[in-house]
Amino acid sequence: MPDIHVVRKDNRHLYEAYFDPYFRLRHEIYVKQRKWMALERPDGREIDQFDTEEAVYLFCIENNQLIGAMRAVPTLMPTLMSELFPHLNLRGPIHRSDVYELSRIFVIPERRGEHAGPRIDMLLLTAIMEYGLSTGLTGFSIVLESWWLPRFERCGWKAHPLGVPHMMDGMSVLAVLVDCDEGTWTTLCSQIGLSRPVLTWRGLTGVSRRSLPDISTRVQPAAQQAQ
Ligand code: COA
Repeated sequence: MPDIHVVRKDNRHLYEAYFDPYFRLRHEIYVKQRKWMALERPDGREIDQFDTEEAVYLFCIENNQLIGAMRAVPTLMPTLMSELFPHLNLRGPIHRSDVYELSRIFVIPERRGEHAGPRIDMLLLTAIMEYGLSTGLTGFSIVLESWWLPRFERCGWKAHPLGVPHMMDGMSVLAVLVDCDEGTWTTLCSQIGLSRPVLTWRGLTGVSRRSLPDISTRVQPAAQQAQ
């Protein structure tokens, strides 16, 4: 199973070699494949104003190759929702230390839709819950396309709409607040057959973390065998 690494300002120096491929992959996926042309950059690296040193990245790495990733930005800082899409959030801006905004979740095309082991997208959704629980977060705000909602429903993510969907560039987009709670994390772990936390915290011994509940006994035997 690939490792999911937490990368933050405290340990970014250990992952410097991954950042250039990471930003190039974002350009390839979002600009070239998804045609989000507003993100196009002449140097072929998709970087925006939310890639600050406060951003937290989950890097899914296998055999030294980045195969998926996700970004989390503190809502105490400017976010996609507060700066670019405020009209999607009818409840007013979210500026909370216990809520991070998620964005730029992707899996490289060759590793999408896999069924042989835990799917990479599911691993990332599980890993970000683990990150949130470990660091005391209670929720994630997200600006997303509405096709995510049935996926969230299936995997147990509780997404609360903050407004109504808007059509933007042919996409139905809305703002949601997702609960970060133990129940969601343990359900996901059970669904994908994880009997232990999945995150790698290399170089982050200085970061204070809450201990997570023991899930080793809650996983179905069949799922354990599949690991
Ligand atoms: N529009 C509508 N539905 C989509 C979609 C899109 N752009 N991308 C994925 N889906 C849905 C579809 O229901 C799809 O089912 P299908 O096979 O019948 O089309 C299902 O998700 C499976 O998606 P798939 O891409 O095969 O694999 P996955 O579940 O392993 O990965 C993503 C899902 C989103 C991680 C992956 O598609 C990806 O990296 N996409 C590019 C980055 C991106 O758009 N991220 C979201 C915005 S930040």
